[in-house]
Amino acid sequence: MLPCTQKLADLSWKPKGVILSGSPYSVYDADAPHVDPTVFEIEVPVLGVCYGLQEIAWNHGKDVSAGNRKEYGHAILSVARHTDAPSHIDVLFSGLADELEVWMSHGDRLRALPMDFVTIATTPNAPFAGIAHAQKKLYGIQFHPEVTHTSCGKALIENFAVKLCQCKQNWTMERFVDTEIDRIRKVVGATGQVIGAVSGGVDSTVAAKLMHEAIGDRFHAILVDNGVMRLNECKTVHKTLTEGLGINLTVVDASEEFLGKLKGVEDPEKKRKIIGNTFIEVFQRESERVMRESGGAVDFLLQGTLYPDVIESISFKGPSATIKTHHNVGGLLENMKLKLIEPLRELFKDEVRVLGTKLGIPEDLVWRHPFPGPGIAIRILGEVTPGQVAIARKADHIFIEEIKAAGLYRKISQAYAALLPVRAVGVMGDKRVYDQVIALRAVETTDYMTADWFDFDGRFLRKVAGRIVNEVDGVCRVVYDVTQKPPGTIELQ
Ligand code: XMP
Repeated sequence: MLPCTQKLADLSWKPKGVILSGSPYSVYDADAPHVDPTVFEIEVPVLGVCYGLQEIAWNHGKDVSAGNRKEYGHAILSVARHTDAPSHIDVLFSGLADELEVWMSHGDRLRALPMDFVTIATTPNAPFAGIAHAQKKLYGIQFHPEVTHTSCGKALIENFAVKLCQCKQNWTMERFVDTEIDRIRKVVGATGQVIGAVSGGVDSTVAAKLMHEAIGDRFHAILVDNGVMRLNECKTVHKTLTEGLGINLTVVDASEEFLGKLKGVEDPEKKRKIIGNTFIEVFQRESERVMRESGGAVDFLLQGTLYPDVIESISFKGPSATIKTHHNVGGLLENMKLKLIEPLRELFKDEVRVLGTKLGIPEDLVWRHPFPGPGIAIRILGEVTPGQVAIARKADHIFIEEIKAAGLYRKISQAYAALLPVRAVGVMGDKRVYDQVIALRAVETTDYMTADWFDFDGRFLRKVAGRIVNEVDGVCRVVYDVTQKPPGTIELQ
């Protein structure tokens, strides 16, 4: 991944191909990012995705225009084959069906074909959803092949990388484990120590286990109880990581400190900042204690950074369009003079799960739904108080318990209950009540960049709603969120 400001002349290697990514900009914006035009001259295959397609057209003198209808979500793509034309034109869609379900997310679309290009795919709303140059291996597609909702996306990228760019497919998880353990040992050295936060989620647990495999008890894990974790979370995580996985773990109860600072705060980004900053303070304090007690200097900080976070930070203006501020412990590096170690930085979530299984991490942890760092705080819309936390936790616990009992947990990528900042009228036990509303959210996705809501059976929802209003004091209504991402995000805040 390189930012578009990269000049090809400054690279010490020659790419086998170039993929131009999407972007929230329009190519006509005054400050729009533009790629070094030499990518079109070095005679390697180029694939432009969404904005990348528009960038190709813009570089070849053609009109891109605002679509008369913005397009987000599923679309049916019809592939146009050119059997009589030069053979490279059909390679992108070779082996794929003539009609494909793809995921669109764009405002601009191509209005006319650039000179020497042919159409290789269309949708009802995008007459140039796929284009190819008649002589050169230049391709543009309006849809996103990199998201899981484009089911043919992987095959299309494979066609581009393997058939058109002649890249080799030689990456395996076995090789990854061995080389990463070796690399960690070399970087940390024979006596170096590493510290890292764990959350009970799959990423930090897998990173911690890998580190433990590499350097044993010279890795110190810290779990901070921020008061907005799930029901019984800390106890369960402690048991699994210490007894089950042998990781050297300290649990710090800082719940009062966090909840104290969250008092009166309603704005989601403020909540994130408070939790992120407090986390850094607590973690720093505890790390210093661990360093004193372990008797040796700690030089490294472990982070379970995944490739999507890396993508976020490689942009021509620094981190790409901030949609939500995801907290991390980056601030620690400057204060504590720690060097960062990120063994998962080249992996996506599904690959982390495969790695976790290889490392012997229990199935239910490997397949755990992700849980955001700011926890239940961003699932309580409005002020986060201990009372609201208790309600949200209990409702969430019931929902997840029922999902597991129905055998649906693995089918759903992420599910939770959120507490809405509204009250509604109900009748309970012949009495009028004016109580709170729980929103249930359950989505299917693998990359978390796009998501579809999970289509529960009505009887299931009725059962969950019945249990929540009966078992959780203060709640008289339950609603189910049926919004896709985009435009909705997975979390409500
Ligand atoms: P959104 O809501 O952006 O969520 O569609 C995508 C994924 O990111 C998680 N998420 C967060 N994780 N800190 C985190 O560690 C955060 O502030 C945060 N916000 C969202 C979300 O749970 C989903 O898995």
